[in-house]
Amino acid sequence: MKIKPFELGRYFAKYEFSVKYLLSSSDCDGLAQSEVLSWADSETKPLWDNLKLGYTESLGLPLLREEIAKMYKGISADEVLITVPEEGIFIALNSLLDKGDHVICTWPGYQSLYEIVESLGCDVEKWQPSEKDNWEFDVNFLEEKIKPNTKLIIFNFPHNPTGYLPTKEDFQKIIEIAKKHNVHVFSDEMYRFLELNSEDRLPRILRGVRESDLTFRYV
Ligand SMILES: Cc1ncc(COP(=O)(O)O)c(C=O)c1O
Repeated sequence: MKIKPFELGRYFAKYEFSVKYLLSSSDCDGLAQSEVLSWADSETKPLWDNLKLGYTESLGLPLLREEIAKMYKGISADEVLITVPEEGIFIALNSLLDKGDHVICTWPGYQSLYEIVESLGCDVEKWQPSEKDNWEFDVNFLEEKIKPNTKLIIFNFPHNPTGYLPTKEDFQKIIEIAKKHNVHVFSDEMYRFLELNSEDRLPRILRGVRESDLTFRYV
């Protein structure tokens, strides 16, 4: 498998730390470590103070995996894997997809979400937003484009780069369509919590829907 160069990374390698004004930041301004650690409570503060900068378990620190599992309904720490986001995309898509699968993916977007799919020899259907309708992604597109070999729908809401956030009703429809056609969903929730109104926040998606024993759950 040979993946094409990651354009955004190459762009930032060239300009991010060399120009006077950066109008294309990919991240928000970071917080100082001391500020973040000042929020730690008496239980977690010693964990930070005594943190050893060595290897931990390859699946991730057990305590962290337990804490993450608590954020979801019905999973245990054994089902949690700690990765950096990009690595998670790579592992998930490699595990789920096989050459020749048809995949629907929000587009334009973060390059890895469709590029890895293409490098695996899959056929990517671009799900594009409507410029005149406030960058809405029309859910009906999914029903129209799903084929017998569609294995996965990939979406990223709030969406990079448009910021589009579907209504909860539309989001539910996406899930229903995926369930009806027995298609996995991959929900990139990188920008969850950046919603302008927290009431609009969409649920986290936990699992795919393809295997019969993995009923779709989201919290
Ligand atoms: C939609 C989306 N998913 C995933 C990532 C990956 O994040 P990271 O570079 O921290 O691995 C990004 C980063 O910009 C992103 O925009």
